Amino acid sequence: MEKTFLMVKPDGVQRGLIGEVISRFERKGFKLSAAKLMVISDDLAKKHYGEHADKPFFGELVDFITSGPVFAMIWEGEDVVKTARHMMGATKPSEADLGTIRGDYGLTVGKNMIHGSDSLESAEREMNLFFGDNAALEYKKSVDEWVY
Ligand code: GTP
Ligand code: MG
Repeated sequence: MEKTFLMVKPDGVQRGLIGEVISRFERKGFKLSAAKLMVISDDLAKKHYGEHADKPFFGELVDFITSGPVFAMIWEGEDVVKTARHMMGATKPSEADLGTIRGDYGLTVGKNMIHGSDSLESAEREMNLFFGDNAALEYKKSVDEWVY
């Protein structure tokens, strides 16, 4: 089944919103496959956000994402990459719909609470970058047949 990489950013961890984020994806019906609290190295941050290396906010982005613990996760489910992006809301919290994570909890584009892979290819790359090979657990839940 499809998997994606999600991460509660340092602002979400400091504000005590890890549980809130996990709860939203659990209640939706997605399955948690891997999770860890970690501090991102400068090197990992630059690889992860490599596509933004030329942007004026790149330095600020790397400084912020390495500024404290993040909560990295792999989630599994049908169309999880696209659906998780909807659940996160638009990048700028001022443009994110209420009911989304950024719409409900974010105020600035820098401290926007959560990262989520934007495509299947990014998901593969990011899961590998943060968790390495074979870190995602495959397991059955009795509720699966009521979700699918
Ligand atoms: P991620 O899931 O974190 O990758 O966000 P995204 O895919 O919604 O947005 P994008 O990949 O375009 O940008 C990555 C991150 O850079 C965003 O989540 C923001 O935190 C930050 N960012 C994007 N645009 C700006 C900007 O104009 N100024 C600042 N300070 N940060 C920005
Ligand atoms: Mg992005």
